[in-house]
Formats: sequence, structure tokens, C-alpha cells
Amino acid sequence: MDVKLNHRYKADAQQSYTLPSSYYTNEAIFNMEKEKVFCKNWIFAGHIEKVSEPGEYFTFQIFDQNIMIIKGADKTIRGFYNVCPHRGHELVEGEGKKSIISCPYHAWTFHLDGQFNRGRAVDQIQNFDNNEACLTAVRVEVFLNFIFVNLDPNAKSLREMMPGLEGEIRANIPKLDQLTLSHRIKYDIKANWKNVVDNYLECNHCQVAHPQFVELVDMKSYKINADEYYISQTSKGKQTLNCNVNNETSNEDVETYLSYWLWPTLAIDIMPGETGLIIMYIEPDGPENTIEHLEFYYLTKEPSAEGWANIEYQDKVLTPEDIALVESVQRGLHSKGYVDGRYVVDNGHTSISEHGVHHFHGLVLKALEGFKKNE
Ligand code: FES
Ligand SMILES: [Fe+2]
Repeated sequence: MDVKLNHRYKADAQQSYTLPSSYYTNEAIFNMEKEKVFCKNWIFAGHIEKVSEPGEYFTFQIFDQNIMIIKGADKTIRGFYNVCPHRGHELVEGEGKKSIISCPYHAWTFHLDGQFNRGRAVDQIQNFDNNEACLTAVRVEVFLNFIFVNLDPNAKSLREMMPGLEGEIRANIPKLDQLTLSHRIKYDIKANWKNVVDNYLECNHCQVAHPQFVELVDMKSYKINADEYYISQTSKGKQTLNCNVNNETSNEDVETYLSYWLWPTLAIDIMPGETGLIIMYIEPDGPENTIEHLEFYYLTKEPSAEGWANIEYQDKVLTPEDIALVESVQRGLHSKGYVDGRYVVDNGHTSISEHGVHHFHGLVLKALEGFKKNE
């Protein structure tokens, strides 16, 4: 059921107020977001290496929807709702490899491409149509070697929504196809998912809250650019976590800091230093809880000393700093002394500008109520 959405958001960031606190706490608004944001947009599922062989599969959740990703005999990666068309039992669990999908309840079987194979005595069912007993597919798109799923059959493709992004990231990581998952970490955060995204989309807090980060990147060259469905933050690197970019880099090192947020809940960070990227997947878990997944991709399964230095920094310094901020904001959003705020927008779109947060809030409102830029 839709709820009344009151806010003082305006398309012009200079005149606008932020999303009001109820948007970050209210269960009815969260339920609307489930349907209108998360069931209609591209959600991160994992790296293609999780299904490198035909028959390999893994499952994951988009709220209560259990999804199976499986590679077919034809090497196509497909996604299906993980449910049997007979009486609704779940078909597979966790991850693994199958030559045929067999339901644990009454043993109907399905090919890897979701087509019905056989079931005992189905030939005695009147008007039984094999085509009605296939698995229900979901949209899958592979982008930068990551698998994304969209539960909306009519959604635009990710490439159409984010033109040029894949080429830009590939140009900065020529060895992108060689990256492998080296390490992963999960955090439970007591904050609404938008509060976590808001924090990611500005660096106005960096000088105040991230003293080590502002030593790694050159804040004077920091730029934030909002495209329609993604936002980039870039700057020159000043140093890596264990050496100076200008003195001790190899040819393969990345010399800049690059970060990309992809609507609605994925971020890709490329730190100055050796080739690699960090995935930050923000998984909403109720109106005031979020699970943050960090995945570190490098050229080797075992991270190098610099890779470990980066992992340690993210895990012990940067992420705890941000979690403390967003959890404090989440408590503050319950205060009777706060309803909404203003955006600090710097026309040069430098590190202090919060226009990315404003842009993100516009996308949320567009999804929830069809708010258009010119309103
Ligand atoms: S529910 Fe799957 S075979 Fe019956
Ligand atoms: Fe931060």
C-alpha cells in the first residue's frame, strides 16, 4: 500500500531540502522501496567466476525472493526464481554444480536452461504443457564481469542505463578480466540503506572524519560527477598504503582514486596502487538495518602485502569511521529536533559538494512517486 510521501525536495539542489527523517525509519516507505526500487532495478549478485563451469550455480536473496544463478550447457549464465513449478518447493540450496536440476520434493527435473525435463506420471495429467512447467527466468546482465539481476522483465539494460561506464572502468583497469575475489568482509550496520549511500556519495566529511584517507588522495583535485544512474568521484592519488605513488609505482599501478556508485546499491572503488577493485554492496535489511558487503578483487587469490594493507585499512579504519557516522545519523533521525536538512552544493563539484546525495534522493523519489527533474 502506498503511503503519503511528504517532503521538501526540489530539483534545484540549492533550493532543496533533504529527504525527511521518516524516509529513513518508516516501515511503509521501506516496503514501497522493496517493490519500486529493489524489484525494478539491477541488483548485484556476484562475480562470474562463481559459475565458471556449465552446471555451476549459486543462490542469493533479494528480500524474500530466492534467486538461482546457473551456467547452462551452452555457457550462458541465467537466473531463475528458485522455486519448483509443481508445488513450490525450493530447487537448490547454497552453491554447487549440477548436471540436471532435480526438485527434492517429488523429483521433477529441469535442464540447466530451465526447461522442464520429466516428472513421474505427468503424462497422465490432462492438458499438461511442458512449457508451463519450466522455471521462471529473471533478467541477468553481466557487466564488468559481475552478474546483476533485475526482477522487472521490462527494465532497461544496465548498459543502456549507464552508457560509457564499462569502457571508463576498463580503461583504468586494463587487466580487469584477470581479477579474482581475494577477500570478503561483511558488516551489520544499524542504519537505513539510504543513510549508508548518502555517506558514500559525498566527501564533505572526509577532512573531518577520515584523516588517513585525505593523505592517500589529493583532495584539491577531487571531483564528483553525477550521471543519470551513476555517480563518480575521482582524484589524483597522493600515496598508496605502503608506498608513494610518484616514486615507487610499477607500470601496472593505478595512479588515481576512482569510485563509482551504481544506482541503487553498488559501489566500486579503485584505490591508488596495485591493480584491483573493491566492491561495496549495500544490502537493505529492514528500515533501520543494512548489511554491507566488501569484496576485494586482485590479480591473485592471496592478496599481496599492499593488498593486505588496503584490506586492513578498509576494515580497521575507513569502514568503522563511516559506520560510526551513519549509525549516529540514524539515531539523530529519531530526534524530535530534526526533520530534514540542506545540501551543501559547491558549483565546482569539488570534494565538499553534496550534489551527489541530492541526485540520489531524486532517483529515490522518481522510483517512489515518479518525481521528475523539472518539478
Ligand atoms: S514441488 Fe517440486 S517436484 Fe513437486
Ligand atoms: Fe566516508
